[in-house]
Amino acid sequence: MESAEDYQTYKALLDWQIELGATEAIGDVPVNRFEAPKKLAEPARPAAAPATPVAEPRADPVGEARAAASAAGTLDDLKPALAAYDHCPLKRGARNLVFADGRPGARVMIIGEAPGREEDLQAKPFVGPAGQLLDRMLAAIGLNRAAEEIAQAVYITNVVPWRPPQNRNPNAQEIAMMRPFVQRHVDLAEPEIVVLMGNISCDAGLGKQGITRLRGQWTEAYGKPCLPMLHPAHLLRTPAAKRETWADLLELQARLEGTA
Ligand code: URA
Repeated sequence: MESAEDYQTYKALLDWQIELGATEAIGDVPVNRFEAPKKLAEPARPAAAPATPVAEPRADPVGEARAAASAAGTLDDLKPALAAYDHCPLKRGARNLVFADGRPGARVMIIGEAPGREEDLQAKPFVGPAGQLLDRMLAAIGLNRAAEEIAQAVYITNVVPWRPPQNRNPNAQEIAMMRPFVQRHVDLAEPEIVVLMGNISCDAGLGKQGITRLRGQWTEAYGKPCLPMLHPAHLLRTPAAKRETWADLLELQARLEGTA
């Protein structure tokens, strides 16, 4: 609390200032009257709408398959490149990657459709019932996937290396993204002749289906002479079709012997 003495002292000081002509009280803090006036506060704006997320560049599964496949310089590079490829949904449901069997460099390369249950378990193409029939068909014209001699050898793969759920057919997108790998597989295995087994294999290799019309007619796929044939699984269901397949096998044999 101020004392009466303080009061009298301050009042005397004030009177003295008034006598000197002061007309305004002076604050403790100096005021700069030349300073630009402060901006008025901006009116509140409505809350900004949430920013539109920047679109991720869209994945290009076929382009990525092409890049991965063409970067593989050998078959030993191609298998891990395929294993590392993550765009094919079939990969998630399969136990194993089914890459190939037989002898790379064989004169004949067989391209099937997709692994089934046995193939998925053993990570080898054509080892189930259809594969056992295929082995008998090949043996009938002197070919064998386990042959030491290159003249009798065959090399076997599929359009898709992962088993589709419930053995359904691979769809158009799955085939399209696997095609660059199949093309590279053929380039690196360097067969003389490609055999397309069944509709899916014709779809991937020739861009068309209709195996009953296409079978037995030489054409070209993956840059090689190729022969479409009925799939052995079809022959198991329709034994009468074995007659046509026998004719196709003899055609293949004649071509290999140069007598076609
Ligand atoms: N059918 C195919 O097309 N490929 C296999 O590996 C097995 C069955």
